[in-house]
Amino acid sequence: PTALAGRHFLKELDLTEEEFRGLIELAAELKAAKRAGTETRRLTGKNIALIFEKTSTRTRCAFEVAAADQGASTTYLDSSGSQIGHKESLKDTGRVLGRMFDAIEFRGDSQAAVEELAAHAGVPVYNGLTDDWHPTQMLADVLTMTEHSAKPLTEIAFAYLGDARFNMGNSYLITGALLGMDVRLVAPRSYWPAQEIVDRARELAEASGARVTLTESLADGVRGADFVATDVWVSMGEPKEVWEERIKALAPYAVTMNVLRATGNPDVKFLHCLPAFHDLGTEVGRDIHARYGLDSLEVTDEVFESAHSVVFDEAENRLHTIKAVLVATLA
Ligand code: CP
Ligand code: NVA
Repeated sequence: PTALAGRHFLKELDLTEEEFRGLIELAAELKAAKRAGTETRRLTGKNIALIFEKTSTRTRCAFEVAAADQGASTTYLDSSGSQIGHKESLKDTGRVLGRMFDAIEFRGDSQAAVEELAAHAGVPVYNGLTDDWHPTQMLADVLTMTEHSAKPLTEIAFAYLGDARFNMGNSYLITGALLGMDVRLVAPRSYWPAQEIVDRARELAEASGARVTLTESLADGVRGADFVATDVWVSMGEPKEVWEERIKALAPYAVTMNVLRATGNPDVKFLHCLPAFHDLGTEVGRDIHARYGLDSLEVTDEVFESAHSVVFDEAENRLHTIKAVLVATLA
């Protein structure tokens, strides 16, 4: 990972297969050290800016705790408490923060925005989620898969069900292709990633030996899968009005016990980046329940709470993998 010193992490395509694997190994080491109480601080005196134009629980906390564990400090900025987004451009913001901080994390809708920031900051910039990619999430998911499978990555099959034309679908496709995995996106054709992303994945697959499948068939898509993953059907920044069409289109792809059984794999594990609509007890959930009479959306509560579910390991792994990114780029 020394090759990553000073580098940005804006999308999975910024990394080679070897660099991606190196970050997973480093994250596993950092996780073990934290557990054993032997973690050493390699970022003492570093300062990291965290820009969140969209809300976050895991990503923000992972950056803050990772930095603190390593002796670095963080400053949280959002659109309501700073000039970002109304009074000052990202170009100027990047040039200012680059003079004060050693690195900058950015979460917002636009991939162009995080790239603009990276072009002008002069310090490493990390994408904490845009509409196009969620690269730090992929590190956590791959670490979780390695922990919950005895197979090498190149023999692991995972199926992502649901809205595959947004950050999580794009990121899973490229990550699986880069790492030589058996990656399946299972969704209605109109919810598949943009053609250029699919083409890029197929190119990567040729080099890595990955198997890349896009299918509308649930049975074909999940057969033999080691992991089944999904994500919310309406992402941050999308209007409430799209719920109706999403529910109609994606309901057949909800992760139920029947879907897990259809894998034919009694040890299949379930992944979700969270937050998840497995019960509709939250504010947004109650509104959807009242409007559509549903009890769950992309995953049933039964699956979410079952022994198949590794979502909280996955959530914890956000910490260890984001720490690996910080250490690899800044130490
Ligand atoms: N998975 C994830 O990115 O969660 P947050 O939105 O809470 O950061
Ligand atoms: N697709 C989701 C992921 C949340 C972590 C969103 O963009 O809201």
